[in-house]
Amino acid sequence: MEYHKIVLLHRIVVSLFLLHYVVKGYFLLSGKKETLAGYSAKTRAAEMILSVLFLATGIYLVYAGPSLSVLMYVKIALVFASIPLAIIGFKREKKPLAMLAILFLFLAYGLAEMSKAQYAKADKAPVDTSTEAADPVAVGKTVYSAKCVACHGDKGDAGLAGAKNLRITQLTDDQQKDIIKNGKPGTGMSAFPDLTDDQLNGLLAYIKTLKQ
Ligand code: HEC
Repeated sequence: MEYHKIVLLHRIVVSLFLLHYVVKGYFLLSGKKETLAGYSAKTRAAEMILSVLFLATGIYLVYAGPSLSVLMYVKIALVFASIPLAIIGFKREKKPLAMLAILFLFLAYGLAEMSKAQYAKADKAPVDTSTEAADPVAVGKTVYSAKCVACHGDKGDAGLAGAKNLRITQLTDDQQKDIIKNGKPGTGMSAFPDLTDDQLNGLLAYIKTLKQ
């Protein structure tokens, strides 16, 4: 399965998981003990499957995704902290612990959204290549280090976040320019519409040096 499909699966699983715990939290808080017990019993198998998918997709994304930001570490810590809290909170009907677990899960979700927004912003920031302007490969290297290494890696073949190996790309110059400028919707390849023509040409020149 491709990276972006796993991302989608992860998001669906996480949303269902949150919903499930909000329902449980509601039953616990409103004192509907029997309803909670019945609901928990009926959803036990589904919860197991969701938990396994949650962790498996999460672990895959940590390994295959772009390098982790501090926000992502905090997010992962929150998710892991919420597990014992949720288990104890719901089993022993300790409302504050159960609420804390749900709060941690929501915080983790919020952090993931924040870090995504930050990531998208970092992508768009213009790069200054005025000092390298005479040398296309140097221009390309500067832009590449700022915008591309996160997924394609130093040598072009890191393949993070599902990135294609640039050392063996079969695309023509024009096709490469098109994908760099406009991105590829539905994949991790973002659009970089703000690059200048010199920077685009520099990137192509630099990518060619990676092929040798
Ligand atoms: C967030 C991760 C990410 C970043 C950052 C990124 N790419 Fe990509 N790139 C991808 C992914 C994923 C693909 C594969 C898209 C697909 O499935 O066809 C890709 C594909 C490409 C391709 C097409 C290769 C081929 O053979 O199909 C080129 C060229 C490329 N990227 C260049 C760049 C350049 C240049 C930069 C920096 C300006 C960059 N990328 C930044 C993820 C990224």
